[in-house]
Amino acid sequence: MKQLELRGFVILMFFLTESLTLPTKPRDVDDFRITQKFIEENIGYITIIAFAQYIQEASFEEAEMLRKAMTEYKDQCLANVTLPMCSKLPNDVLQEAICAIEGLPQKHNFSHCCNKVDFERRLCFFRNKKAGIEFLPPLLALDPEEKCQAYKNNSESFLNNYIYEVSRRNPFVFAPTLLTLAARFEMITKTCCEEQDKANCFQTKAKSVIQYLKALSSYQKNVCGAFLKFGLQVLNSINIAILSQKFPRIEFKELTSLLEDVSYKFDGCCEGDAVHCIRGWSKVMDHICSKQDSISSEIKECCEKKIPERGECIISSNKDRPKDLSLKETKSIENKNVCEERNANQDIFMAEFLYEYSRRHPELSVPELLRIARVYDDLLKECCITENPPDCYSNAENKFNETTEKSLRIVKRECDHFRNLGKDDLKYHYLIKLTKIAPQLSTEELTFIGEEMVTALTTCCTLSEEFACVDNLVDLVLGEICGVNENRTINPAVDHCCKTNFAFRRSCFDALEADETYVPLSASQGLFTFHIDLCQAHNEELQRKKDRFLVNLVKLKPKLTDKELWSLLTDSANTVDRCCKAEGPETCFNEEGPKLAAKSWAS
Ligand SMILES: *[C@@H]1O[C@H](CO)[C@@H](O)[C@H](O)[C@H]1NC(C)=O
Ligand SMILES: *[C@@H]1O[C@H](CO)[C@@H](O)[C@H](O)[C@H]1NC(C)=O
Ligand SMILES: *[C@@H]1O[C@H](CO)[C@@H](O)[C@H](O)[C@H]1NC(C)=O
Ligand SMILES: *[C@@H]1O[C@H](CO)[C@@H](O)[C@H](O)[C@H]1NC(C)=O
Ligand SMILES: *[C@@H]1O[C@H](CO)[C@@H](O)[C@H](O)[C@H]1NC(C)=O
Repeated sequence: MKQLELRGFVILMFFLTESLTLPTKPRDVDDFRITQKFIEENIGYITIIAFAQYIQEASFEEAEMLRKAMTEYKDQCLANVTLPMCSKLPNDVLQEAICAIEGLPQKHNFSHCCNKVDFERRLCFFRNKKAGIEFLPPLLALDPEEKCQAYKNNSESFLNNYIYEVSRRNPFVFAPTLLTLAARFEMITKTCCEEQDKANCFQTKAKSVIQYLKALSSYQKNVCGAFLKFGLQVLNSINIAILSQKFPRIEFKELTSLLEDVSYKFDGCCEGDAVHCIRGWSKVMDHICSKQDSISSEIKECCEKKIPERGECIISSNKDRPKDLSLKETKSIENKNVCEERNANQDIFMAEFLYEYSRRHPELSVPELLRIARVYDDLLKECCITENPPDCYSNAENKFNETTEKSLRIVKRECDHFRNLGKDDLKYHYLIKLTKIAPQLSTEELTFIGEEMVTALTTCCTLSEEFACVDNLVDLVLGEICGVNENRTINPAVDHCCKTNFAFRRSCFDALEADETYVPLSASQGLFTFHIDLCQAHNEELQRKKDRFLVNLVKLKPKLTDKELWSLLTDSANTVDRCCKAEGPETCFNEEGPKLAAKSWAS
């Protein structure tokens, strides 16, 4: 492959676009410089992240090639900012560089993106991201000794490789999160390679890092999916609810100004524009840190930290709840002028209501807060055209409580499942339910989603904030089904739930029955043909096979009741068990398999 053509296209200098709105206050200028420096120092990582997320199929060597080219550009532009090539948007420059690698667009099938320009091209690269990563091999866990050797030998290349592997498997995670992850991973490697028991050290420490990544990935995907499907208004509502819960002390005016920065950030982050995302993220953190008095007294130490640790620290800081914040929000119910205020500006009026309600209700989930805002909005629509509006909306609190109670019942039922069923049975329950609702999804995806459901419930159902936790996490799982960078078409009922109303997605899914439009395969596709390798499979592997078997069984026989499906699953597991203990397992399988198949068709 030819070296990158160095001349001919323009380069990132990350200065010009921002310099148009260059901050004037000394503090802001400082903040700006610090972010700028961070971006320059991390240009290698940033390039790898953006590239591996856009072109997940590409090899590490290809990523390295691009990294070198981009580093060179950076150096050139640092040496002479006035070079004409130093004035383009960083993400455009990166995409041009990707397209300029000879043969690469054809090899990885993205020439159609390179043929476009500007906005169209950015959108094309974004849509090229693939949420399902079945086409990539599972991430290999290197032997710890090997890992430490590789790190010692060439720490930079080792870390680049790590960030490459993680990025291509998490194409929607925001760049600052991945940079935090890289920093943490480096710390872990340094520490663990000094230890006697390296394996144990890696295992324990890596666990929390992986959880951190999974949680943020899931959240970021969900918010971006909502943004792309429902637009800025829903994005703003989500952020109002989150920020008001997180910073109950903040004043509404301050919140709206912060909201602008936050929403700006999502624009770049969701699209995969790593530089824009880091800038936006820093801007949000600078904003928060410069207004600590009015936002939170709990973030002083966080604000002294550097990028990217600072952000993570603020996210996990304690809440600073003002003592005089009454539990009840009365002005939206008792005020006689509600309709006049609403008419003056509906968006601001509703934003303020959501803010007031959210900061008083840390025990509610974000979707629940949005539901309540919706209920209030609907109520006012009705009431404000009546003779006596205040009378009409005086029962608003009742309506809010009804909505919350309905959601509580759903969560309670789910946590009852968790308490009554063992972990495996809980998973089977959800695998059956999910497969019946959306049999068109791949077996991989269905088993993955089933696992996520189980994780959500096992994480949440023992906590005191059970409700918010379950409702938030299960909604993230639904977000996965609905898709991040595409409007998926799965089946009419599921599509309807995904696109109708973000806040009420949960109850919509909850009411779904088996998909009516689905036509099952007419042949059993060898589902009941067992092989001797099953007998060698270890616990985890066997469990995976069992999960897949169940999903495929439901796909084959969606009309069977849950009980019949359970019974077939148990019979099959028993058969495998018995045959593996028999003299000739293969013969046993050949005899027993058809019997199970016959039973499935008879049911
Ligand atoms: C920087 O680039 C500009 C535009 O190409 C050129 O005119 C100028 O001489 C360069 N300066 C230096 C120090 O190379
Ligand atoms: C290449 O991409 C195009 C457009 O997205 C798609 O229609 C086609 O199926 C892809 N080909 C392969 C081999 O993946
Ligand atoms: C060490 O690095 C060199 C080049 O950087 C490479 O050729 C060699 O294979 C590496 N050795 C190990 C054990 O990773
Ligand atoms: C609504 O629920 C809250 C919390 O459970 C309770 O304090 C309040 O009295 C309820 N209000 C009405 C009108 O039922
Ligand atoms: C999905 O649908 C929304 C709303 O109908 C639309 O604004 C958006 O552009 C669509 N997104 C994609 C990726 O097609």
